[in-house]
Amino acid sequence: MAQTQRLRHALICGTDLHILKGHVTTCQAGRILGHEGVGVVDQVGDDVTAFKAGDRVLISCISSCCGKCDFCRRGIYSHCRTGGWILGNKIDGTQAEYARTPHADTSLHHLPDGVDEEALVMLSDILPTGFECGVLNGKISPGSTVAIVGAGPVGLATLLTAQFYSPAEIILIDLDDRRLAIARQFGATQTVNSADGRAVEKVRALTGGEGVDAAVEAVGLPATFKLCTDIVSPGGGVANAGVHGVKVDLHLERLWSQNISITTRLVDTVSTPMLLRTVVSHRIEPKLSDYTPLQARRDHKRLRHVLARGGDRGLEGDHRDITQGGGQWCRRAEDFSRKST
Ligand SMILES: NC(=O)c1ccc[n+]([C@@H]2O[C@H](COP(=O)([O-])OP(=O)(O)OC[C@H]3O[C@@H](n4cnc5c(N)ncnc54)[C@H](O)[C@@H]3O)[C@@H](O)[C@H]2O)c1
Ligand SMILES: [Zn+2]
Ligand SMILES: [Zn+2]
Repeated sequence: MAQTQRLRHALICGTDLHILKGHVTTCQAGRILGHEGVGVVDQVGDDVTAFKAGDRVLISCISSCCGKCDFCRRGIYSHCRTGGWILGNKIDGTQAEYARTPHADTSLHHLPDGVDEEALVMLSDILPTGFECGVLNGKISPGSTVAIVGAGPVGLATLLTAQFYSPAEIILIDLDDRRLAIARQFGATQTVNSADGRAVEKVRALTGGEGVDAAVEAVGLPATFKLCTDIVSPGGGVANAGVHGVKVDLHLERLWSQNISITTRLVDTVSTPMLLRTVVSHRIEPKLSDYTPLQARRDHKRLRHVLARGGDRGLEGDHRDITQGGGQWCRRAEDFSRKST
């Protein structure tokens, strides 16, 4: 039950950068990256009934869930026995002209008319990740205090969707003042630049010495996870969204008595249909207004540089070709799609 889509929009996730650093061991050298995208159905497999050629679709990062196995029946699509997060990880992904989605009927979403496709592509990954890993796992509730460490796309998506629940304070923490300024536009009540190493002190000062009810980790570094455990108040929760590639210390000698919960999650995308409705109704507006094609071109050049330089281990040789032969990637994907429905 597979189908192929011709890509119209694709994004680069923070997780792709973890892959390049060798942090995601399931992803082998040579893999076409990308697990986010909006496209038009090109071909459908024999068993596909919900989509036909020409349909505009949202490609979810958990782009292959059977809907039948024990994990899928519990809503844990990310651990589907025959799918899960495989796109741009265990099978070739969306940084290509065409991509293929196994289990298409249960994994893709029809795009509604009249909505900006660039906004909808945020639903492939970052919005469900921010909502499920950050907001739901962090049990963000009315009147609560929240800190989000990392004002990248995932941190900002957490910020947007946290506001469904009317928390009293949402503090964004990052090293980058430009991203913190965007966070203010998106509804952060306070921002903290943590470059001076005084984030714990500053968050405590902003919360009357208490710390926060929910601390969301949206970076994926040992230091930012520790920061979350240092600013969570007794009875609160640390909701980890970041992908971690190295071991992280957990200070149970201090935390054991604090009645906190710590959660981890690979996004399941169970919330995507609901989030799609909030975007259609303009309840949330996920598009970054100051991101111009010029900036996109500049960032793409930077990514090409990262690809050329290779990761910390494993990927250097294979990925160097990309800078010289982007077309080769597209051709490969197209050939693959023609034989794989
Ligand atoms: N759990 C999941 O299913 C899931 C899904 C998608 C992404 N992720 C992960 O979420 C994390 C965030 O993704 P993203 O796309 O927003 O990444 P990103 O790299 O675009 O953003 C990370 C942000 O963290 C900030 N930062 C870096 N070091 C910091 C530090 N020491 N202190 C404070 N801020 C710091 C950066 O300035 C940046 O704004 C990544 O680890 C990514 O792999 C997880
Ligand atoms: Zn991702
Ligand atoms: Zn399944």
